[in-house]
Amino acid sequence: MISPTSLRGSKITGTGRYCPPRVLTNEDLEKMVDTSDEWILTRTGIRERRIADRGQACSDLALEASMAALHSAGVGASELDAIIVGTVTGDMVFPATACLIQERLGAKKAAGFDVSAACCGFVYGVSNGHALIASGQMDKVLIVGVDILSKIVDWKDRATCVLFGDGAGAVVLEACSAGEGILGTYMKSDGSLADLLQVPSGGSRDPASPETCARGGHYLKMKGDGVFKYAVRAMEDAVKQVLDRANLTIDDVDLIIPHQANIRILDAVHKRLGVSADRVVVNIDRYGNTSSGTIPIALDEVVRNGRLKKGDVVLMVTFGGGLTWGSLLFRYN
Ligand code: ACO
Repeated sequence: MISPTSLRGSKITGTGRYCPPRVLTNEDLEKMVDTSDEWILTRTGIRERRIADRGQACSDLALEASMAALHSAGVGASELDAIIVGTVTGDMVFPATACLIQERLGAKKAAGFDVSAACCGFVYGVSNGHALIASGQMDKVLIVGVDILSKIVDWKDRATCVLFGDGAGAVVLEACSAGEGILGTYMKSDGSLADLLQVPSGGSRDPASPETCARGGHYLKMKGDGVFKYAVRAMEDAVKQVLDRANLTIDDVDLIIPHQANIRILDAVHKRLGVSADRVVVNIDRYGNTSSGTIPIALDEVVRNGRLKKGDVVLMVTFGGGLTWGSLLFRYN
């Protein structure tokens, strides 16, 4: 039986992922732009990434990950109260990709909406899902983190095109007693740093036109060094804040699943936190930065390969365009 509102919490009961089968290696990129495997590997930690086919859209990847998560949770789509999709590369400007998945899953009674928080979309999405459940409004929520950044990067710009990949991950969140699953959440943003990472055209400020296309305004623009400096501080802040909220210390955490943007950012964060590398999940070498997809993809990998054990305390920490950053702490059971 589900507890009264004041005693409600939420827990992850199923995970899934889908990454397109097509692999693009650093050696492949050497033939496309002036770069090298050595430069990419030493500066970012990436060896290869997955790239969606021309005909594959955000909802196609999200649907596969969602079905896997529902299957592992043993939950039918018709039981879902909401679908939340963290993405900045939805199928269309609107409607929300969540609504497209709702239709394809047959989740008849579910509300659907997207969360636009760049790489933080998944963590923000789970925080929202947790709030909806803990407040008693809903019992079962599907959250997807998905992006197809290959469709918005400039494949002639070596400074950005080597960094990103495509992929989706999903979780099912269900009501439980408070304190059982999610132990704390934290979300933050700083819009004064919006120019560090953005797609400047195609919105209402600079609508799509032949001119915006000619000057490449619809491509992702990034000031990589600025993002790098801020990311380390933001992730450290997010870890401290969520631990304080849950009244735990970093020593209580069994596994850290960070956003996968750059191996040097991950190394800097775990050194600042004083945790050993074996407590940090890293898969950037195989997928690159899949934006909202990175954390749920990594989560599904550690669930399925047995690295995550029942009772483990897991810390997710992320940052992205906005700038946005955030964290989430949960006990896996
Ligand atoms: N291959 C070879 N050379 C390159 C490449 C490449 N792919 N890209 C850039 N270079 C060159 C530059 O032109 C520059 O050359 P110069 O010295 O002759 O001018 C040189 O390499 C050094 O460039 P830097 O930008 O200083 O390289 P840096 O060490 O800062 O690494 C990087 C760049 C990898 C982008 C790094 O700054 C980074 O990872 N930043 C964080 C990015 C990030 O996390 N983005 C995702 C945010 S999450 C989201 O919301 C999507």
